[in-house]
Amino acid sequence: MEWSVTDLAERDLYKLLVNTVLPRPIALVTTVNAQGHANAAPFSFFNVFSHAPPLVVLGIEGRDLGDAPLKDTMRNIRATGSFVVNLVDRALVDAMQVCAIDFPGDVDEIAAAGLETAPGRKVAAPRLAASPVQLECRETVSLSLGTRHRNLVVGEIQYIHIRDGAVDERLHVDIDKLDLVGRLHGADWYVTMRDRFQAPRQTLDTWRAQQGALRAKPEGEAP
Ligand SMILES: Cc1cc2nc3c(=O)[nH]c(=O)nc-3n(C[C@H](O)[C@H](O)[C@H](O)COP(=O)(O)O)c2cc1C
Repeated sequence: MEWSVTDLAERDLYKLLVNTVLPRPIALVTTVNAQGHANAAPFSFFNVFSHAPPLVVLGIEGRDLGDAPLKDTMRNIRATGSFVVNLVDRALVDAMQVCAIDFPGDVDEIAAAGLETAPGRKVAAPRLAASPVQLECRETVSLSLGTRHRNLVVGEIQYIHIRDGAVDERLHVDIDKLDLVGRLHGADWYVTMRDRFQAPRQTLDTWRAQQGALRAKPEGEAP
């Protein structure tokens, strides 16, 4: 099947995109408002964008509320210019779902989720102590895109925390010790990284050698 996006309703576009671009990593983003009140919320329109400079991107939708059209995360990033990306492991999933609840402003969702924080080293926002990877970021630029207060936030990583024991002295990361999850299809499907395979990268020389070997095979023989 095929579509021009102009023929699709917004909800259908969402369905087609979030159910095909998979899996997506999840940033449980912590921020702080101008009064020092901390907030946490998950975002899977998220990825690392480059390493030099070390950039992450977040896609934060607007709310359908007239007088408060920005999610707390976006409002706090605007107010303080910083945030922390806390990657989500299997053990954090239930707490992450609590952070995604649309609580009234006076509820401390980090406490409601039973999560402990640690102070940021370079930014005002706190980190989530239980997260296996915490990236302290400063907002580089935020682009307001679309008509409904959607923002694309670009952040530059200032400081990296990785769980003790998950990285060796050569900076090789043991991904089993991180146990990260990704977001899958539908509303509630997630994936761990326990089903893996290796696909060695080709050079022009190895590719040519492989093509030559295929051509050299006698006819009828399976490649
Ligand atoms: C796994 C997961 C991923 C999500 N990804 C996004 C996202 O990429 N962008 C977005 O705007 N909302 C996303 N949400 C919804 C927000 O987390 C939710 O609206 C949250 O209440 C926002 O909180 P805040 O107002 O404290 O920022 C996601 C929710 C879940 C459970």
